[in-house]
Amino acid sequence: MKSVAIAGATGAVGQELLAILAERNFPLKSLKLLASARSVGKKIKFKGEDITVQELRHDSFEGVDLVLSSAGGSISKEYMPSAVKAGAVVVDNTSYFRMNPEVPLVVPEINPQDIKKHKGIIANPNCSTIIMLLPLFPLYKAFGVERVHACTYQAASGAGATAMEELRLECAALAAGKTFTRTVIPHQYAFNLFPHNSSYNDGSSAKSSVHAPTGYCEEEWKMVAETHKIFGDENLRVNATCVRVPVLRAHSEALNIRLSKKASVAEIYDVLRTAPGVEILEEPSENRWPMPIDASGKDPVFAGRVRVDQSQDNAFDMWIVGDQIRKGAALNAIQIAELL
Ligand code: A2P
Repeated sequence: MKSVAIAGATGAVGQELLAILAERNFPLKSLKLLASARSVGKKIKFKGEDITVQELRHDSFEGVDLVLSSAGGSISKEYMPSAVKAGAVVVDNTSYFRMNPEVPLVVPEINPQDIKKHKGIIANPNCSTIIMLLPLFPLYKAFGVERVHACTYQAASGAGATAMEELRLECAALAAGKTFTRTVIPHQYAFNLFPHNSSYNDGSSAKSSVHAPTGYCEEEWKMVAETHKIFGDENLRVNATCVRVPVLRAHSEALNIRLSKKASVAEIYDVLRTAPGVEILEEPSENRWPMPIDASGKDPVFAGRVRVDQSQDNAFDMWIVGDQIRKGAALNAIQIAELL
């Protein structure tokens, strides 16, 4: 039995963490809900009982065994060292610690062994990365992967609960012919899409703190760097173009994968059929493939539409969809906690 604290309990991922802890009957001794001063006193139901939200502070972690943190990178940077000092293990959902060599970056279906190396913090990977790697890893093991290119179609949930609410409100306003003032999302989102709005490296020295190479945004580079770290393979060629689409909560990705060993479409389906956390979902005769509404609220990454890429040797295209808040964030974090 563990004493657990959720940092960012009122957010989109925080709420899902609560739902999954209850669903999977996580062995809890106690549960502390932490958020900003704005949420103090708010009551949140967990297994029929009201829990009062407390302010996240440096002294919030006394007696806590496990912290599930999803309040944003700067909050993790500031508070999670205090959690470790107090003796807790942190599963961190933000990008802040992910590339720190002292911090394991874990997808339980891929590199559970890395958990053992932790020194108090384990990082949960980026949502688009987790969703891409679930079907990619078994193919990597079976055939080797020369190169993968992902085009993402990312939901509003990746920008948090307030972005989801803003998309709902903007859709309603625009459908009613009204104007809408955005506060969270930088561009019109309803009936539109835009390349991912994470920091873009334009090559100027002012942007030198941006980790991505010139011309990339951070989200795209996370998919590259985190894949290398999780697979333990710096040589794997990975590339991504990330786009936000007006979908509430599941990310879709078009993957183009060049394999090292010869394979057929049938062999790829055979591997995917037994891949942990992956489910084939398609009815080709109906022209029906995985969609965000199929994946929303579900655990697996749904895959389909595997076909030969006619433009190059031994390359295949595939369409995948996964719930960003569940496997892309909260579920992966709780699977890590269960392994711990
Ligand atoms: P709050 O609701 O009090 O603002 P999301 O990713 O869905 O936007 O959620 C972000 C989460 O992080 C929320 O629970 C939010 O709490 C929390 N959060 C944001 N800023 C802070 C802060 N300064 N201290 C603690 N929690 C914070």
